[in-house]
Amino acid sequence: MKFISKVKLFAIILVLGKTQQLCAQSNTQSVQSLLSKLTVEEKIRLLTGNGFVADKESDAASKRIPGVVGTTYPITRLNIPSITLSDGPAGVRLNPVKVNDSVQQQYATGFPIATLLASTWDTALIYKVGEAFGKEARNFGIDVILAPALNIQRNPLNGRNFEYYSEDPVIAGNIAAAMVNGIQSQGAGTSIKHFVANNQETDRSNVNEVISERALREVYLKGFEIAVKKSHPWTVMNSYNKVNGIYTSENEDLNITILRNEWGFKGLVMTDWGGGRHPAQQMIAGTDLLMSGRKWQLDALTNAVKHDSLSLKIIDRNVAHVLELIFKTLVYKHESYSGKPDIKSNAAIVRTAASDGMILLKNNGVLPFANCRKIAMFGRASFNTIANGWGSGEVHKLYTISIADGLRNAGYMVDSSRSIEDRANGDDIALITIGRNSGETRDRAVNGDFTLKEEERTQIKNIAEAFHAKGKKVVVVLNIGGIIEMASWRDDVDGILLAWQPGQEGGNAVADILSGKANPSGRLTITIPMVYEDEPSAQNFLGTTFPQQARSAIFNSPTTYREVDYKEGIFVGYRYFNSFNVPVAYPFGFGLSYTDFNISDLKLNTAAFNNAIRATVKVTNTGKTAGKEVVQLYLTVPLAKEHKPSDELKAFAKTKLLQPGESEIISFTITKDQLASFNTAESAWIADKGAYKIKIGVSSTDIKQEAVFNLPRKIVVEKTHHIQYPDDVKAL
Ligand code: GLC
Repeated sequence: MKFISKVKLFAIILVLGKTQQLCAQSNTQSVQSLLSKLTVEEKIRLLTGNGFVADKESDAASKRIPGVVGTTYPITRLNIPSITLSDGPAGVRLNPVKVNDSVQQQYATGFPIATLLASTWDTALIYKVGEAFGKEARNFGIDVILAPALNIQRNPLNGRNFEYYSEDPVIAGNIAAAMVNGIQSQGAGTSIKHFVANNQETDRSNVNEVISERALREVYLKGFEIAVKKSHPWTVMNSYNKVNGIYTSENEDLNITILRNEWGFKGLVMTDWGGGRHPAQQMIAGTDLLMSGRKWQLDALTNAVKHDSLSLKIIDRNVAHVLELIFKTLVYKHESYSGKPDIKSNAAIVRTAASDGMILLKNNGVLPFANCRKIAMFGRASFNTIANGWGSGEVHKLYTISIADGLRNAGYMVDSSRSIEDRANGDDIALITIGRNSGETRDRAVNGDFTLKEEERTQIKNIAEAFHAKGKKVVVVLNIGGIIEMASWRDDVDGILLAWQPGQEGGNAVADILSGKANPSGRLTITIPMVYEDEPSAQNFLGTTFPQQARSAIFNSPTTYREVDYKEGIFVGYRYFNSFNVPVAYPFGFGLSYTDFNISDLKLNTAAFNNAIRATVKVTNTGKTAGKEVVQLYLTVPLAKEHKPSDELKAFAKTKLLQPGESEIISFTITKDQLASFNTAESAWIADKGAYKIKIGVSSTDIKQEAVFNLPRKIVVEKTHHIQYPDDVKAL
């Protein structure tokens, strides 16, 4: 680079830095100057959303984008606009609006569900999905998207698992960070949710989740920590539930001690819609904004200030977070927007993401289709394919391509006539789609939901018998939002594709995989057990109810008091199955490809750990088809005083599309915080002295390369604040 251009570059960086500093300063000045002008009543109005429409200002605000799920209160005299907040993890969700006497749907792009996106194990792709998502949000004029959701899939029966990423926090945190960075690159904000441990829907707004500090920090908080540190989300949304006896939105340990003081979060914390019970305590505990906002919350804050149980210092601290959020928004910057989504132009990214997140679980030479023209299709979901689950995570989509239509679009003939017999005669192959749906406010059942329904079991048997008798094969496609039992029936069929709930382009994406246009590269981010009862949380999921009635202050109806004791502690998912050698149907990280890969030449840059360690490995496509491999780095640490999982995922990478014979070198850098375990007694993350083993695998049980390094001395990686919990919490 020529000297003059170096000087120019330096000058530009200097100016940019100065501008940013001035911007921050001017924001601080504006916050301080606004705080001095706002009345106490106006400040309290800013701390509660516009859920109630009490006057013309808030009414006007709610009309700026009809159908949006949340808005904040405008203070017009000081040019403080109302901002808009909209769901959800699979796309912009705007409720239908009344126009004259007709109801008008507001359509948006239906992206694949979160679990499918995580199953791509491809942060670069998820960033691109986030960009398309963020662009659509700004086209609608939405200021904050209430996503991504990254609660741990602790138990497969949780109704909202489709909105979440994984049983593992490293996947969840990194995929969430990529989504946040993608969305926020377009000028819309995000809200990582639900902070923390919203791991069931039953009694969600009252249930008390009893979780040891170690399990909280190593499993349930870790994904949020990664997302906060790698993407700086504008906001965090608390969960409804209690943790160890305290509502999360009323828990200063979570919202201030950990989130802000330890992780350095600088954004805004909001409640879930109607979450928590005690507004003054929520404010003190660091929840800045009470959504959706009710009159009684406003009155409670006003009374608390009047009776000195809520200081103006706290009020100003939280109002400052609200103002800083508003300053970032498109509406504050008077950015124009079209009001129209780009559904058609998003189709390509939706379709690619969908096929890249689908997981080939079984393939006895039946896929990709060869010499197959006429497909006998069975199962309602073949024709009414489920794009995503229900509740706030659903999207009002303009269209959903069914699997049948996707196959027709790809040139196949689809036979949906009735009899199994004439079709076994005349068709080339049988395709059975098993559909499952679930969503907000309800958890799944074991019988006939996690397990097959009897009629599904019979159907698979009859179809397999008829088609196998004719020397023809059977493929099952799983159009599901959460895993199901598979061990009892998978031997009856020749191929199984886990398509999840793949969004509006689902059928085309399935056809891309089945036809071989796309080589499947998805991998499981949740373990599929042999039977539900093998789940480590099967015994305590949903917990126990007590006769004492905890009245819900918002819905003013008696609710049961329920408590769940997370007895499995840190042993969630593969951490349990691998550590205790419990056989599974399909392990965490598993997925097949149409080609083969070889993983070799694992090298470490040192045998004795100092500050970090670099591991490189070579991936070669040894098959005949171009494909992508997912390289997973697991770590086995020296057995500390307490048990440690036999191995934990610490990093992952997806290769580019490797042509047959092509290789790629993948490198990972592991730092000391990734070696550390949380030691409750010492309130610290500690990396114990001893031998560590790096395991490079293509699933959590299929390890291809191993290498050992030594940590010569114990490292106290980070001292944390001791989190006070109610005495009765059993430290597991
Ligand atoms: C719901 C959900 C939350 C959503 C919010 C607004 O109850 O728990 O995920 O963003 O309310 O719809």
